[in-house]
Amino acid sequence: MLLGVNIDHVATLRNARGGVEPQPINAAKICQNCGASSITTHLREDRRHITDEDVELISKTISTPLNLEMAVTDEMGEIALRIKPHSVCLVPEKRQEVTTEGGLDVARQLDKITEFVKPLVNAGIEVSLFIDPSESQVKASAKTGAQFIELHTGSYSNAFGTENEEIEFQKLKNSAKLAQSLGLKVNAGHGLDYENVSRMHEIPELNELNIGHSIISRSIFTGLESAVKEMMELIK
Ligand code: PXP
Repeated sequence: MLLGVNIDHVATLRNARGGVEPQPINAAKICQNCGASSITTHLREDRRHITDEDVELISKTISTPLNLEMAVTDEMGEIALRIKPHSVCLVPEKRQEVTTEGGLDVARQLDKITEFVKPLVNAGIEVSLFIDPSESQVKASAKTGAQFIELHTGSYSNAFGTENEEIEFQKLKNSAKLAQSLGLKVNAGHGLDYENVSRMHEIPELNELNIGHSIISRSIFTGLESAVKEMMELIK
């Protein structure tokens, strides 16, 4: 299983002071040197953390695949086609949310998302859809032309260690199996940390985990290199 590191919160910290430190590009370089399989940045509509300049710089400087998380909007589509990241992950976005709250409702917006995916795939960009682990969302995703899904692990992460853990875990496991049988490659992420990540081994279909908050949080105390390597050891 591979580890993609989401470095958005390096930008959150930088923006808290409105200055230039810490620089996301330096975080991207460290993740690259540690052997991360991808670097993820979420260019939000309100640019609350990662900026257009960050994405441009990371895309030009880093050879590790850049995974650009973005909403399904004309603006983001144009940016992706200009920058041509290795992959994009399409996410729902609400202005008031603290972080991405739920998965993309592909089943309800099948035509819109299929149209949005087409030029990206034609441009050679891998497209992933961030969805809740449900049969209807997986089946709809398989019809869009996207090559990947990323299963939202937020509910599993919140339920970890509680009586609901097994229910949430089985949703992930079943969705991953179904997705692979329909020809989709499967990633997962959101809310994963150094404890709850352990059960991801029980889902053999998983290709890559995308983890941000727990790694950046730990890096404050241990340094980013150590935080990334520790997570890589856990998911190896
Ligand atoms: N995957 C997606 C699609 C996300 O939106 C996020 C959060 O930005 C993550 C993964 C990483 O989540 P976390 O920061 O909780 O590890």
